[in-house]
Parts: sequence; C-alpha cells; structure tokens
Amino acid sequence: MIYKTLRKLLFLLPPERAHALSLAGLKGWSKIHCPSIDSGLAREVMGIHFPNPVGLAAGLDKNGDSIDALGCLGFGFVEVGTVTPRPQPGNPRPRLFRIPEAGAIINRMGFNNEGIDHLLAQAARRRYRGVLGVNIGKNFDTPVERAVEDYRIGYRKAFPLADYVTVNISSPNTPGLRDLQQASLLEDLLGPLKDLQGELEARHEKRTPLVVKVAPDLDEEAVALIAGVVNRLGIEGVIATNTTLSRHGVEGLPHGDEAGGLSGRPLRTMSTETLQQFRRHLDASVALIAAGGIFSEADLAEKLSAGADLAQIYSGLIYEGPGLVKRLIQSLH
Ligand SMILES: Cc1cc2nc3c(=O)[nH]c(=O)nc-3n(C[C@H](O)[C@H](O)[C@H](O)COP(=O)(O)O)c2cc1C
Repeated sequence: MIYKTLRKLLFLLPPERAHALSLAGLKGWSKIHCPSIDSGLAREVMGIHFPNPVGLAAGLDKNGDSIDALGCLGFGFVEVGTVTPRPQPGNPRPRLFRIPEAGAIINRMGFNNEGIDHLLAQAARRRYRGVLGVNIGKNFDTPVERAVEDYRIGYRKAFPLADYVTVNISSPNTPGLRDLQQASLLEDLLGPLKDLQGELEARHEKRTPLVVKVAPDLDEEAVALIAGVVNRLGIEGVIATNTTLSRHGVEGLPHGDEAGGLSGRPLRTMSTETLQQFRRHLDASVALIAAGGIFSEADLAEKLSAGADLAQIYSGLIYEGPGLVKRLIQSLH
C-alpha cells in the first residue's frame, strides 16, 4: 500500500534517477531497519549454504555499492554485476524504459559499470551474511573472439570473494555476446574457465562454482546443445533466464518498440518454458536458478515446480516493491 504511493512518485521520475534515488533511500532505511535473513528455508545448492532460495537478479546493483542495503530486504542471495574487467560507460541515455501497462521493463544499459576492482573492493566491505554471486561479462571493445580473456580475468579476480560466479552470455546489449551460446563457442569459453577453476581451487583452497546465464530466446535444440556442454564440463549451475528480444505482450504500448531486453510479466511464461527445457536436458546434479517475471507467490511456485532450485527477482521488485521479497519467502513456509 505504502509502496503503491511511493511508486507513483518514483514513476514520475526518469527511470535511472528513480533507481538511484530508491537505492539511496534503501541505504538510509536499512540503517534503521534490517531484519535478519529468514533462514528457516535454508538449502544446500552447488555445495553452498543458501539461507533461503529467494535472490536478487543481476543488473540492479552492477557495482556492488548496495549489497548491505539490498540484503536487508531479506534476500537469501544477492547477485551483483554484470561487471567487466575495465570500467565502461554503457550505452547513451535514455536506455531504460518502463512499460507499466504490462508490468515490463526494456533496458539497453550495455554493461555500464565501474569495473571489477571497484566491485570487489565494495564486496570485501560487505556485512551481508547471505550468499554473494558475482556476474561477469566482457568489455564492449573486447572482440567476441577474445571474450574468454575477459571472462578469465573476471573469474580469477572474483574467485576468492564470490560464493559463485555467473558467466553472462545472454545480455542482448553487447553486440555478439549471445553468439557465445552456440555450442562450439560455448565449449571454447567454458572449457578454459573450468580449467582455471581447478587451478584456483588448489591455490585458494576454496570452491567457487560456475553458473552460466542463458537467454529465453532459444529453441529446444539449442537448449539441448547448451545443456550438453554444461553437463560434459561439469558447470555447476544455469540461470534461466536473462531478458528477451521478443516484444510479445508489449506491442503497441508506449516504449514497447524500444531496442533492448524485455523483462517483467511478459517474460514469465517464456522464461519458465526455457527453464523446463533445461531441467529436461541437464544432469540432476546441475543447479537451476529461475529468473523472469516473478511478481507473486504463484509465479515463484511455478518456477519451483518447473524445476528451479533457487529463484531471482528484478522487475517484480520495481513493480511490487520490497515487500515482495518477504511475501515470496513466507509463501514457502
Ligand atoms: C534494468 C535491467 C538491467 C539488467 N542488467 C543485467 C545485467 O547487467 N546482467 C545480467 O545478467 N542480467 C541483467 N538483467 C536481467 C535480470 O537479471 C533478469 O535476468 C531479467 O530481468 C528477468 O527477471 P525479471 O523479469 O524478474 O526482471 C537486467 C534487467 C534489467 C531490468
């Protein structure tokens, strides 16, 4: 109820200003009110202890500047990034659009971020006791053929601090990135990262599972090929899904034809279908993390019954407010 009023005011502002203001407000509020994470729903996934299965999806805290404040909303895990080896400004503004009639967002941010060193310095200072995921990408000006070098830098640097690392190959806003989902290119990317994992595990005496984040715009043949690579290499988890290139559900609406990735309500069904396909093709040992259009307890239940071990939200938080996190967690008790 309070959030509905607040949302009306926030939605009067340009989306990026509202975003910055909300995070600043949340930081202040979290200093006064920070309930402990509900751990009555703790589970072990990828060998990691998750206090509860509801997490924050990547892209909201790209630089790790607000981990503690977001953690105070009750998330069992927070995924920060996407972060690239070097800082970069992202695409020109405007690059973020709300479509309230459809409960949707279109973004073409383009991995605007302060670089991995900044993010890790922030993460090192966190007091948040939940699980921390670090989502890595490649710089805009790194050719796709050399993407593996950027991901190796990201993984090597994040390894000691992160609980898990997500390899983002599904953002539609970095030209050529999604091509890395083709089975042969994927093998050439994930193979070297898996080798690096072995080296780093020995050096740090720590495990940092690798998770790959996929697009919802894949047919079942592509899903089967990706799942085959993941199974073969022993990648620990898959996040299904990132945003979609489809405009189903927003055609004809203001901003509905903006370029970028679509998230929120219109993504839910597509994303759940992709999740189901991955569950069919992945080994049972590979963890599945759902993301895409979770706005209610029923949406979360849908993802879990489609085979998800964990779930993340982003657009739902913008439209439904912070109370959604608590509601989702309570619904699982
Ligand atoms: C504004 C915005 C920025 C995003 N940035 C990233 C990102 O940097 N990396 C990433 O892996 N996903 C990013 N995402 C995708 C989300 O993590 C999530 O996968 C997607 O939005 C589907 O979930 P939702 O429908 O709950 O928003 C972004 C989404 C939005 C709306």
